Amino acid sequence: MTAYTIEFVGTGETITCTDKETILSRCLEEGIAQEYSCRVGMCLACSAEILEGDVTQPAARGLTDQEAENYALTCMARPQSDLKLDRGKYPPSIEADIEADTAGDGAVADD
Ligand code: FES
Repeated sequence: MTAYTIEFVGTGETITCTDKETILSRCLEEGIAQEYSCRVGMCLACSAEILEGDVTQPAARGLTDQEAENYALTCMARPQSDLKLDRGKYPPSIEADIEADTAGDGAVADD
């Protein structure tokens, strides 16, 4: 078991996480306000952009293989190196869905 350092850029928050733990579980233990919902790799609520480092997340079913190179689903992802993550960043496909469902005034459309 190897422990890695995870820095959440722009927050001043840093945690340690082993390669046997998920990033989300360590965030919850440390009281870090990482968003989540399903905790099974499907909803993408727990997404973070990977700015530096590598994770393993074979059960991150909500991401395409290409998205999984740049985004971590923290409920599934385990570090494979020290990391710099940007929490609350979503893959472009999800950002496009959010924009399509937003009616310009910040309200989500009823569709
Ligand atoms: S909490 Fe749903 S994908 Fe991680």
